[in-house]
Amino acid sequence: MEYNVIHYEEIDSTNTEARRLSKGGAEHGLVIVAEKQTAGKGRRGRNWESPAGRNLYFSILLRPELKPKKAPMLTIVMAYSVAKVLHEQESLPVQIKWPNDLVLFKKKVCGILTEMNMNGCQVEDVIVGVGINVNTEGFPQELHDKATSLYLEKGVQIERKELLQKVLNEFQKQYVLFLEVQELSFLQESYNRMLINRNQEVLVLAPEGEYRADALGINELGELSVRKTDGSVENIFAGEVSVRGLYGYV
Ligand code: BTN
Repeated sequence: MEYNVIHYEEIDSTNTEARRLSKGGAEHGLVIVAEKQTAGKGRRGRNWESPAGRNLYFSILLRPELKPKKAPMLTIVMAYSVAKVLHEQESLPVQIKWPNDLVLFKKKVCGILTEMNMNGCQVEDVIVGVGINVNTEGFPQELHDKATSLYLEKGVQIERKELLQKVLNEFQKQYVLFLEVQELSFLQESYNRMLINRNQEVLVLAPEGEYRADALGINELGELSVRKTDGSVENIFAGEVSVRGLYGYV
């Protein structure tokens, strides 16, 4: 995949801009990067704080030949790619909170928002948006215990452009591997090694109610396998179900 990177000083949301350009016919591999977002989107309709000049906000437009139900796996591929770069190139012990939050010393440092657009029964595009708290020096009171930045944990500023390049390179490699097989066993083991709740009791928040279970790890479809208290194993699907630690976020 050839990337075509467009950089904005300010935009409402890089995901929204990628969607607009996709509708206008933009090609696979378009990357929208912004210094600041005025309407940054988080998952579940939440807002993503996007102050200027400190962090990374970017979205990749993909046009994969993929069954729609497989598109959420791209979120896992991206979470894995970012985590791999932070481990291997920045020596930061990030962990993954399934499916797609990256956590550093129990606080969130990166979020991913994947949005799919359909044309009939076919995938028209998948937009993978990534927000990484890179050089932010502080957070509003309400986020103080929940969010951190690479700078706050590492103590040195990180060159954002270089980090973006590393993440794009790594994602490209993992994306190619994924598209070949269209499942996730090639990264399953390393993803699970970074999984924050692995072998721990979690609260599964399912539409039919919440229950306690032990998180075992992802399977080749990217579902989280959990062992319920009655010993049965359930595979839970992101989007329908979320998982929390028993005592808060992780
Ligand atoms: C989450 O954890 O809730 C997902 C956060 C995703 C934020 C990124 S920032 C770049 C891209 N553009 C957006 O509006 N959101 C994503």
